[in-house]
Amino acid sequence: MCGIIGYVGDREVIPLLIQGLKRMEYRGYDSAGVGLFGPDGFLLRKDKGKVADLESALSTVRIETHAGIGHTRWATHGVPNAINAHPHMDDKGFIILAHNGIIENYEALREELTRSGHRFVSDTDTETVAHLIEEVYEGDLLVAVQRALRLVRGTYGLVIMCSQAPDQIVAARLGSPLIIGHGKGENFVASDLAAFVEFTRDVTYMEDGEVALITKDKIVHKTLADQFVPKKVEKISFDIEQIEKGGFPHFMLKEINEQPRTIADAMRGRLLVEEGTVRFGGMSERETEFAGAKRAIFVACGTSWHAALVGEYLFEELAGLPVEVEYASEFRYRSPILDDHTVVFAISQSGETADTLAAIREAKSRGATVFGVCNVVGSSIPRETHAGVFLHAGPEIGVASTKAFTSQIAVLSMLALSLGRRRRISAAEGRRLIEELRAIPRKVASILNGVDEIQTIAQQYRDHRNFLYLGRGVNFPVALEGALKLKEISYIHAEGYPAAEMKHGPIALIDDAMPVVFIAIRDGTYEKILSNIAEVRARRGRVIAVATEGDRDIAGRVDHVIYVPETHPMLSPLLTVVPLQLLAYHIAVLRGCNVDMPRNLAKSVTVE
Ligand code: G6P
Repeated sequence: MCGIIGYVGDREVIPLLIQGLKRMEYRGYDSAGVGLFGPDGFLLRKDKGKVADLESALSTVRIETHAGIGHTRWATHGVPNAINAHPHMDDKGFIILAHNGIIENYEALREELTRSGHRFVSDTDTETVAHLIEEVYEGDLLVAVQRALRLVRGTYGLVIMCSQAPDQIVAARLGSPLIIGHGKGENFVASDLAAFVEFTRDVTYMEDGEVALITKDKIVHKTLADQFVPKKVEKISFDIEQIEKGGFPHFMLKEINEQPRTIADAMRGRLLVEEGTVRFGGMSERETEFAGAKRAIFVACGTSWHAALVGEYLFEELAGLPVEVEYASEFRYRSPILDDHTVVFAISQSGETADTLAAIREAKSRGATVFGVCNVVGSSIPRETHAGVFLHAGPEIGVASTKAFTSQIAVLSMLALSLGRRRRISAAEGRRLIEELRAIPRKVASILNGVDEIQTIAQQYRDHRNFLYLGRGVNFPVALEGALKLKEISYIHAEGYPAAEMKHGPIALIDDAMPVVFIAIRDGTYEKILSNIAEVRARRGRVIAVATEGDRDIAGRVDHVIYVPETHPMLSPLLTVVPLQLLAYHIAVLRGCNVDMPRNLAKSVTVE
């Protein structure tokens, strides 16, 4: 969601904030702003648009100062414009702050503050907090923040400055991530490591209910109730190249192309080839609960929810474990029935998705064991779950998730295999699956090497207004994911359906202007898929098939074929999704869309 940065130290503050904002721009990008203390009090520069626009607006500004805060916004309250952009300031010019999250009781607070004479200028919930802190301030910013936040309901990651002490920043967290970077004679705070990773790798993670006082030489962690919180400084391993485009025109294309490596990284050190099974260090503490589970619930959002659906097929097929897949946002408000033998898996790339976090808390409060399948080390989900598995896919910057999806499927395949080996799969079958898994990176690389057909198809269909994606079995979720990728980045309307379900509605839409993408690999559902293809062709629909290499027969039945290598049918999503990612990417580029920052979306959704 929004990106937040704060810096205290002797470097030139404006370029540092701009650089940090650029690194976080994938989180939210409808407006950007910075705030710092200058000779005439606080200077705020903010507007709708990208960080590059802000950078140009600031190119002539030179200020001697030692602290500042910045923000990239994803609007929740109030349209994107200069007034609603962050940082916000109270009407006396005393407090400035940048915020990620939602202040739920802002209307009541605003009314009360207006009655006591405060004048508001923006439509945001955030501005209220600046006025409120000013209202309760009695000489100490940290104390004022603690006092004010006790009156606030909602979620926040906040960085706050006060004109009385312009060389300090106070940060506060409830439900929105904040990480503090410890430098030498300088300190950083941000919603994302990427914002300051080139300056320091020593970090402390703020937890919910905590505040921190940050000056250039010291960092004090406390609770809202003013208890000191002892913290361990952790060293993070992170390469700067991981957050740069490395010669690709977009992060999304770079990340699609990283998949041979990221899938291999998800497996690295985990496969026990001889025994035909898999071992996860991160699951060991709750091994008994995992091994003894009678039922599992997978909670996730977006692309991770699609990976969870693939996981459902894998767990049921390989381990015989009944699985229910839930949207985290629905699960959290239901009365889920959980018992000692139900385990919950929370699947999330970012580890910060608000609904998934809330679902974890709900499941824990009902006594369930909760496992995380997560990419971002140090994020909230791995810290709140009982045990879990990291994807090790490296930072994913493109808003449309690609490499995280395949890594999630690789991890879920391994989890299903490891459980299956204890229940129903022989060592020989386990070894066969492991061999297939190990061959996947090479097969993905071969798909990436032959993209000409995909570019031709993209050229031909770039102006179509609707697409239908159909698949069966474990490739039904891939159809959903293919459709999601296309709509996210090209703004073409696309639907995914189980192929057989087409007859119960979507078939009404089919005419010669409707491209239908079929996942038609040679598995147990192949013959049925061919019938569905015939039904579409009979209605003059245009068919694009993702088929198994060597299947010459299908070429005569469809308009276009994209071939993927053969693999174990249960692992096929790791291959079939790749051409669909590329198709969406090329169509979006041809349509002139900003693929890395599609309109209205955000990489990590930290509000409900
Ligand atoms: C946002 C992103 C999606 C992502 C979803 C879930 O909507 O734009 O790409 O799939 O959140 O995010 P998570 O980090 O929990 O996987």
